[in-house]
Amino acid sequence: TRAGVVVVGSINADQVVTVARHPLPGETLIGRSITMLPGGKGANQAVAAALLGAQVSMVGAIGRDAHARTATTILESADVDLSSVRTVDSPTGLAVITVADDGENTIIVIPGANEAVDADVVAQSADLVAGAAVVVLQGEIPAAASVAAARLATGRVVLNLAPVIELDPVTIAAADPLVVNEHEAALLLAQLAPGAQHPASDAEAVARLREWGVRSVVLTRGALGAIVADADGTDAVASPVVVAVDSSGAGDAFVGALSARLAAGDSLREAVGLAVRVGAFAVQSPGTQPSYPRAGDILPEVRTGPATQEN
Ligand code: RIB
Ligand code: NA
Repeated sequence: TRAGVVVVGSINADQVVTVARHPLPGETLIGRSITMLPGGKGANQAVAAALLGAQVSMVGAIGRDAHARTATTILESADVDLSSVRTVDSPTGLAVITVADDGENTIIVIPGANEAVDADVVAQSADLVAGAAVVVLQGEIPAAASVAAARLATGRVVLNLAPVIELDPVTIAAADPLVVNEHEAALLLAQLAPGAQHPASDAEAVARLREWGVRSVVLTRGALGAIVADADGTDAVASPVVVAVDSSGAGDAFVGALSARLAAGDSLREAVGLAVRVGAFAVQSPGTQPSYPRAGDILPEVRTGPATQEN
């Protein structure tokens, strides 16, 4: 049998500043609070999957500094296997995040140790990656590492191209699914077909990615849910309606949940149906990893049909 989920990706410490609204260029504002929290898209996805009961291993790198402790606390408490995480000489990845009262965020990432995650580091964990039911990749480590991991994978490759980096066409086509938001989809399409028009709609972006040859596509649309497209067709999946406090890392909660459910044997549509609810759960409280649900937590429900009174 295969080990569940292997995440090859970034590990950061997040310096989170809360503020009434985002500053304009050249403007000085007084903030509300500053907190150091664990983050990094890879680590966030690993934690989200582990909290939902998946067996998760992480391949990545951290520095020999205080931020490394911050970055790994929840990975450790969630029981993610960190034996393939290297300790290197560069500083642990750091993200500077501002969260405004409306729940919107801005993020600047200084990759640091994450840049050390190259094809060699992945090759050192070749058996782990090859044995995984699901290998999860993002855009915060060097492209060569993701390409190497996708080549080694014999299970499903979940490719969350956030941020959009240049990967080889074989890696992109092998994604099953490719998970992107509308901006990432448009950037990727521009990269795959330079000069082509900006997609007129989310549905068109999905169709074009499928025509290009991606096995399956999940386009995330925040409060609007997601679009799923594969050989079985294209479907819209609705999201629960919730009050957003902090949307940072909600996309990672989605990808982690999706990966955990695919590893457990769910169909892509079943897994996306759960993932939108996990993402909605995560936006309801501050931070990334601290806001993720555990198996057994009550997730918000999708309301179907016309809006009616509570009964
Ligand atoms: O997706 C949110 C994450 O992006 C943060 O945790 C931050 O570390 C950046 O990687
Ligand atoms: Na949150």
